Amino acid sequence: MQTISDLTQLRQQIKTWKQQGDTVAFVPTMGNLHQGHISLVEEAKKHANRVVVSIFVNPMQFGEGEDLDKYPRTLPADSEKLIAVDTDLLFTPTAQTIYPKGLNAQTYIEVPGVSDNYCGASRPGHFRGVATIVNKLFNLVQPDVACFGEKDFQQLQVIRTMVEDLAMPIEIIGVPTARETNGLAKSSRNGYLSSAQKQQAGIIYQSLLQAADKLQQQKPLEEVKAFIAEQISQQGLTIDYIEIAERSRMQDAVAGDKKLVILVAALLGQTRLIDNWQVDLN
Ligand code: PAJ
Repeated sequence: MQTISDLTQLRQQIKTWKQQGDTVAFVPTMGNLHQGHISLVEEAKKHANRVVVSIFVNPMQFGEGEDLDKYPRTLPADSEKLIAVDTDLLFTPTAQTIYPKGLNAQTYIEVPGVSDNYCGASRPGHFRGVATIVNKLFNLVQPDVACFGEKDFQQLQVIRTMVEDLAMPIEIIGVPTARETNGLAKSSRNGYLSSAQKQQAGIIYQSLLQAADKLQQQKPLEEVKAFIAEQISQQGLTIDYIEIAERSRMQDAVAGDKKLVILVAALLGQTRLIDNWQVDLN
């Protein structure tokens, strides 16, 4: 595996591959890699003969008071994990290389509609930061295919919408959420939790599954949301939001919508956890 931090070197390697007729699959990350990230790399390998992973803790997508400074940076361990799954290239730019003019003097991408609610409302500017960095990384890596986790479902829909709206020639693949044995979605932020808290946090997944059953039984949306709220509050989590959205619009579901996603964001101590579950109604 080559590790490259320099933009010119990255472009040169991509150009060489393209001239050889290689195809490129890309997995953008912020590092502190776990099985969820690795499952993206494994999926990526099925779609192209070269796999590029980026590790960049993107300051533009963190709000005031969020965990940018304490976000775990574990490059040596991350590199080992990527070598073990035959990653071709790890791209590790610095913030200075990506944002030489600073964060406020730079072109940005905004994806209205799908970004407005849920995490977009709780974290103002977050999806602008995500769309801007992913667009820039796409321009550098020029992938044929890029893989994103369903764990961050709204993010996946923001990227799909950006790619469609701007006619980017990139296939976006959503990869199912990797979970702990109690159902807790794997996340770099789980490292902030004690083992007791990890057990408590399993309630998010368990209540999502039960809520999905209730939706299939045609229970009213408000009742289903109230059920999840009660379950996860009882375990000591503080709710940020619990919503049921139509999947492609990422707006609150209304009667007649069939392709739904139940979205949960909650705090356990200082740690913000998100999860979701897709439900198809007949
Ligand atoms: P990060 O949180 O590092 O996640 C990188 C990718 O891994 C995302 O596509 C995310 O959805 C996926 N992922 C995280 N946990 C997962 C899990 N348990 N199962 C499956 N996939 C999982 O998301 C970001 O970074 C950033 O916003 C980024 C897209 C890199 C832009 O900065």
